[in-house]
Amino acid sequence: MFETIPAAAPDPILGLQATFKADPRAGKVNLAIGVYCDAQGKTLSLKAVVEAEKRLLEKHPGHGYLPIEGLAEYGAVVREMLFGAGHPLVKDGRAITAQCPGGTGALRVTADLLGTHRKGATVWISDPTWPNHFGIFQGAGLATKTYRYFDAASNSLNLAAMLEDLKALKPGDAVLLHGCCHNPTGVDPTAAQWKQIAEAVKAAGALPIVDFAYQGFGDGLEEDAAGLRIILGICPEVIVCSSFSKNFGLYGERAGAMTLVAANADIANTALTQVRMAVRTNYSNPPAHGARVVAMVLSNPELKQMWQDELKQMCGRIFGVRKALRQALDQRGVKLHKDGNAFIETQRGMFTMSGLTKAQVERLQKEYGIFIVGSGRINVAGITDAVLVPVADAIAAVVK
Ligand SMILES: Cc1ncc(COP(=O)(O)O)c(C=O)c1O
Repeated sequence: MFETIPAAAPDPILGLQATFKADPRAGKVNLAIGVYCDAQGKTLSLKAVVEAEKRLLEKHPGHGYLPIEGLAEYGAVVREMLFGAGHPLVKDGRAITAQCPGGTGALRVTADLLGTHRKGATVWISDPTWPNHFGIFQGAGLATKTYRYFDAASNSLNLAAMLEDLKALKPGDAVLLHGCCHNPTGVDPTAAQWKQIAEAVKAAGALPIVDFAYQGFGDGLEEDAAGLRIILGICPEVIVCSSFSKNFGLYGERAGAMTLVAANADIANTALTQVRMAVRTNYSNPPAHGARVVAMVLSNPELKQMWQDELKQMCGRIFGVRKALRQALDQRGVKLHKDGNAFIETQRGMFTMSGLTKAQVERLQKEYGIFIVGSGRINVAGITDAVLVPVADAIAAVVK
């Protein structure tokens, strides 16, 4: 049975994680995987999360199954975070939420829904993107195509090319958009650009799927939702795949959500019955712990404030690292882009598309034990106080 199954290529990000772990060098540095570290390199548990866990333990909610679509109170706080308090589309019942195992689970439930009910649709994905996007949608039997997004020459959004490519969308196709902190480029559209993008998607009769894995890691929780809210104002139907992996540091708890916005409550509720089918035949019902933590924190003003303060601190550290990395490279006379290194500070989120070539990335790994993704994507949130100088020195050595 199994002899003829060919070996799969290792995952470009998690595969590198395994190579990193196996590397015996003491000074090795992991800037590949998208996990936030504090200045000392620890992947911390947020205080608000630990406090919620203590309270949960006292309550002991048990280990029963959750409903197929997860906890109702979790769905409510997810929608409030995405759309803002009291949004009319929530009041009108146009949005339904399925709690899913992480943002990945939300994307897969979306893919299964479209794979079953929109056979023949093409899902349009930004070039570049988080590599898992392709496998998730193709795995559900959907075709994928890419649209141009990033202009390496100017290190910015290539809006004209993107809009040009979006003209090829057919009615019933779907477009995957990164809600904020685009992975891997860190380049997000401005409000005016979001408007043009949303209008192009609407004109084509296509469905926007917003992958929203980094809310709060850019300019703030509300600010980062600006693009999504512009899309909602223009497109009558949207799917949002959100995640608390990064902004709650709940990576392993798999707390994500798929929120479907339909033209009216009846359509939304009918769609929910099919979302339930997609979940039931896949993992039956979602894991409970992470969602309980999130629901408790977001519905308790004291814990919510504590979490927002911690999220601001994480974000502040990322901005600080961006600045320090840029300065360190400037001081070494390294220019990662023809216009200089300013892009490191203007990009948003955990990642910077460094412009390092594949050969330079390989040298960083082989000669200096510094692991970054082959595309040149650096997780700036992984740069600790202790490694800033060795990282800058190594980059200077491979670039010069
Ligand atoms: C763009 C993007 N979407 C989705 C995810 C999935 O997040 P999760 O770990 O919650 O499944 C990630 C995680 O790295 C991501 O970068």
